[in-house]
Amino acid sequence: MANGGSEIFLDTYHIRGGYYLNGEVALSGAKNSVLPIFAASVVTGAQSKIVNCPEISDSENMRDILKMLGCSVHKDGGTVVIDSAQISAHTIGEKLMSTMRSSVFLAGSLLVRCGIAEIGKPGGCKIGARPIDIHIDMLKALGAEAEENEGRVVLKARKLKGAQLTLPFPSVGATENTIIAASCADGETVLSNAAREPEIVDLQDFLNRCGAKIKGAGTHTVTIEGVKELHAAEYEIIPDRIEAGTFMCMAAATKGEIHIKNARPAHLETVSEALEALGCEIRTTQNGMWIKQSKPLRGTVEITTAPFPGFPTDLQPQFTAAVCAAGLTGVVREKIFENRFGYAKELNKMGAAIEICGKNAIITRGHLLKGNRVVAEDLRGGAALVTAALAAEGDSIVCGTEYIKRGYFSLDKKLRLLGAEIKEHNG
Ligand code: UD1
Repeated sequence: MANGGSEIFLDTYHIRGGYYLNGEVALSGAKNSVLPIFAASVVTGAQSKIVNCPEISDSENMRDILKMLGCSVHKDGGTVVIDSAQISAHTIGEKLMSTMRSSVFLAGSLLVRCGIAEIGKPGGCKIGARPIDIHIDMLKALGAEAEENEGRVVLKARKLKGAQLTLPFPSVGATENTIIAASCADGETVLSNAAREPEIVDLQDFLNRCGAKIKGAGTHTVTIEGVKELHAAEYEIIPDRIEAGTFMCMAAATKGEIHIKNARPAHLETVSEALEALGCEIRTTQNGMWIKQSKPLRGTVEITTAPFPGFPTDLQPQFTAAVCAAGLTGVVREKIFENRFGYAKELNKMGAAIEICGKNAIITRGHLLKGNRVVAEDLRGGAALVTAALAAEGDSIVCGTEYIKRGYFSLDKKLRLLGAEIKEHNG
């Protein structure tokens, strides 16, 4: 199928809306943990056995990049064993950087292991400009020399040196890259204004399991005492809080009742608050979280995305879809990315009334949604369209499931187990 004649979508979800989601769902490992942890496995120069890896296409792409760099990589279900003793390449080309933005996490690792890292500068993507200037500045502050030519950056350092650093903005990726690079630097690094996302704690815990000396992840200040070398380790990835939040929005949108196994309430406080304000019942259980939406959602919505522990930008589209499905009005402000409302015109095709004014989405009038053919432009926008289609009256076709599979493992299968009518059509 074609999107305006320019992009071909082979895979689609066919969804019959109007079913209440009901039952239990198990979360996969966190996408935003597995990517930096795979990159960090390169700095260890040893064998890392990583369990609970999500079987998503972003994780597969990162494994391919590690193989290209010379690592031996073996996957058995959700367990991935990476041996990074031999590294034979230090270049991540521009094309790879554009398709797999998270490969920038490898800059710190390659610099430590090879003394040189060559990375393509990514262009903008569907959700915003996404430059890597903060990553480069932090690596330079640790002693790397950087030569920037058209489209690429070559970083060189015989040995990185610990430093007092302050991030101009709590970038998740730049915090992670700096932690990885500083883990084997000479001396101590103190990183202020660090991002506080749970996945940064996960990265710290993985590296510490490998012999690093890092503390403070999850707070604004991370202290990294450089060590001479790291060693082999086994590590389990945390459950995916964004997948959990997606199921919460889907329950809210469909008047459902879901037990989300392994969901960690502390990772989802602002999301729970926002949904409770609309009338959802949410409880902590022995091994997860339970959400029920038996009555129509109510109230006027006002949320603003922010770095953790604020409302996650990665759940902004799914939350907006739930709000539209309930026929509510309000405003959703996006403060992390420039252009994260691409999905809104597709929701409008289903009967929503969203106006985009700069970084604000204004939901002007409440209408219940009707099924339609809609096109995903990015991962979380795609999840928002699935959320809307599950709640809408009638049939929908969501094109571009390739985007959705970058971050969700077996979303259609998990939804079928909750009672949804959803089928994937390939090619
Ligand atoms: C990570 C997550 C992504 C999430 C985002 C924000 C992973 C693999 N991805 O992305 O799912 O949406 O955090 O929570 O963990 N910026 C710069 N210069 C830089 C780096 C970032 O200007 O060098 C800007 C970005 O363009 C963006 C903002 O900072 O506007 C936040 O980006 P950042 O926190 O770095 O997000 P990512 O690490 O790319």
